[in-house]
Amino acid sequence: MKTLVVYDSVHGNTERVAKGIGDAITGEVQVLRAGEVNSSELKTFDLLIVGGPTHRGRPTQAIRDLLDQVPGIALQGTNVAAFDTRLPAKWVRIFGYAAPRIAGTLKKKGGTLIGSAEGFFVEGTEGPLREGELERAALWAKEIVKSTK
Ligand SMILES: Cc1cc2nc3c(=O)[nH]c(=O)nc-3n(C[C@H](O)[C@H](O)[C@H](O)COP(=O)(O)O)c2cc1C
Repeated sequence: MKTLVVYDSVHGNTERVAKGIGDAITGEVQVLRAGEVNSSELKTFDLLIVGGPTHRGRPTQAIRDLLDQVPGIALQGTNVAAFDTRLPAKWVRIFGYAAPRIAGTLKKKGGTLIGSAEGFFVEGTEGPLREGELERAALWAKEIVKSTK
């Protein structure tokens, strides 16, 4: 199975999660920053996992730009999943989070959504990741792979 994990990251926390997810998945896996991927390549994978930091309740510009460039329902036939990193503070909930929005866009572009749109917690804007989140991300990724079979 060919998997692509695409991420954006300002302070490195989402990058760590993305790489952890990549390590947890067997088969042919690439982990690339959003700016390193051409939108036309996304549909060439069996599984596409997209994740980024939550900024004001939304995905970052790099993730939005990449997904906006995917034409029509080009992701038809591709399994897709989304994750984000986010703060644990209750007050940020009113803004929403990046992962459900990424998942919504991937689905709109024709992708077959698998797994839950998942958030992984950072202790503060610059991190670090909360203890245990890398392990939780690895488990999440393994569950997703199981669902594709
Ligand atoms: C401009 C900005 C806006 C943010 N807005 C939110 C938010 O709405 N909700 C939230 O949970 N975290 C928010 N955060 C915190 C980010 O989730 C956190 O910086 C990110 O998870 C760290 O990931 P990174 O190291 O990959 O950049 C924001 C951070 C920045 C810099």
